[in-house]
Amino acid sequence: MCGIFGMIGDGAVGNTLRALGYLEYRGYDSAGIAALRKDRIDVYKTAGRIAALKKFIGDVPETDIAIGHTRWATHGEVCAANAHPFLSPQGRFAIVHNGIIENYRDLRRELNGALFTSDTDSEIVAHLLEKEYRGNALEAVLATARKLRGSFAIAIVSVSDRVLYAIKNKSPLIVGMSEEGAYLCSDIRCASHWASSVAVTPDDTVVELSDNGARFFRLDGTPIEVAFFAPDKAEEAERVDGDFMLKEITEIPSKLRLAEQGYFSSGGLGLTRDIARRLSRVYLIGCGTAYHSGLEAAAVARQWLDIDVLPVIASEFIYDNYTVDGDTLAIFISQSGETADTVRACERVRRSGGIAYAVTNTDSSSLTFACQRTLNIRAGAEYAVASTKAYNCQLVTLTLMLLDLGRMRGTVSDATYDEVLRGLEELPRAVEKILEDGYGIAQLAEQLKNSTAIFYIGRTADYPTACEGSLKLKEISYIHSEAYPAGELKHGTLALIDNTVAVVAIATSRELRDKMASSVTEVATRGAKVIAVSPYTFENAVRLAIPETHPYLYGIAAAVPLQLLAYYIAKRLGRDVDKPRNLAKSVTVE
Ligand code: F6R
Repeated sequence: MCGIFGMIGDGAVGNTLRALGYLEYRGYDSAGIAALRKDRIDVYKTAGRIAALKKFIGDVPETDIAIGHTRWATHGEVCAANAHPFLSPQGRFAIVHNGIIENYRDLRRELNGALFTSDTDSEIVAHLLEKEYRGNALEAVLATARKLRGSFAIAIVSVSDRVLYAIKNKSPLIVGMSEEGAYLCSDIRCASHWASSVAVTPDDTVVELSDNGARFFRLDGTPIEVAFFAPDKAEEAERVDGDFMLKEITEIPSKLRLAEQGYFSSGGLGLTRDIARRLSRVYLIGCGTAYHSGLEAAAVARQWLDIDVLPVIASEFIYDNYTVDGDTLAIFISQSGETADTVRACERVRRSGGIAYAVTNTDSSSLTFACQRTLNIRAGAEYAVASTKAYNCQLVTLTLMLLDLGRMRGTVSDATYDEVLRGLEELPRAVEKILEDGYGIAQLAEQLKNSTAIFYIGRTADYPTACEGSLKLKEISYIHSEAYPAGELKHGTLALIDNTVAVVAIATSRELRDKMASSVTEVATRGAKVIAVSPYTFENAVRLAIPETHPYLYGIAAAVPLQLLAYYIAKRLGRDVDKPRNLAKSVTVE
């Protein structure tokens, strides 16, 4: 989703273009930059990729102040006019914006007669700055900030004082400093390519960035102190021969080991025995793939925990009436740590006095700052929009956390705990075996790629795996797909089954093997091509074999052939697997 970057320092145009490259992974459909010249601002913007922007800009002269933006359309279609930056009517300011200005319609009405060049909510900021300008740019920025409602990280270039400003509320904004310059960025990983120290800007804050350093203000103009710290340096995103998605799937075995080691070396669950025993409920909250890992972890933890473990979609949690009190542990799951819905849900839990933990891949993210404790899943950076290895590592961390909770509550014996740990040790090898069968999965993909729909079914802990397989397929192949608890098919969905569809049955439970065999027959006799993801064989189904593993850990292994299947189907359909249409890696608006 939208990315912003701003810089004061030599080579600002070149560095800003490079930064937009680092922000590409977030997902975007247009891009632009603004360069401050001696007494004016030049804006260059295009629809399409950064490569198109670079071509459009050509060999422009360098400068020492620039801002840039990758846009993921929310208000107004994808076109150059709606791309950022926007110039204020008299050219005094240029702005880029990440987030949504919720009251932009009212603000536009107040500026009766003003000429807008775009359909965006963002352009109103440029107009307000000009309207509020009475000879002092900082005052104009503060007055503008007080008028805005919604979520926003806004970077502003001001001609009059040659300063960069920013306004921040509920969208991530990092301020960075180095010997060479000062930076504004929506992403700590990107900022760390330049900055040796960074600060996470609090909500309702205005930032002034000049040659003299950074100053932070509340919206009434009161200066505030914000702490700087040294960020972990991001690795250069190495280009891979193939796609990031495939590379990230093949990393799963090594990352599973790191997730487990990381859990123990960071001190594990970190609840006192008293608090663990007093808890009356656990929520597992996230979006998309992260929600599915919560769904799966809850399904297995039901086998051993004596309290409710409730998986909830973050955007639902915010507006529904879930009970939260001091005996509530809410675990927020997010690869990026920046998903707006998840962060808002966390704030709701904190307001109600619950205990909020983050399970994330990204330290120093908005979620880690909102939570009392963070467990890092150590999956390493994900660049493909479709999340893969983070899912498997989230499950390792969540399973260990919930097992430890069970031990503290006396519902998990040492023997069971040791068995699961042994299972975890064997898991990377089991996943390697699945990866070795990549060729078979690629061949199967060829047979499935023209299906009109692909359904995923499973029972109990296999149902969340079905949900994740289905999500992976639809997001990168654009084939219609749904996931169902297998027993639910005959209550309606069976009407859709014919010889143009395929059904992927996930069947890891020995006890439910016969039940799954009936479900497989049910769909096969209606003409569907059936694929069984299972350690067992089924009549009427092609088997994608998974090695036998500990029953609590099947979800971690069974997701892998589904990730590969989605990948190969999408490839055979010629899709851009790393950057599927309409999707963003980091969803920073609600
Ligand atoms: C699916 C996918 C999304 C994310 C979701 C949450 O492949 O990547 O469904 O899982 O947007 O993102 P995070 O985990 O960053 O909060």
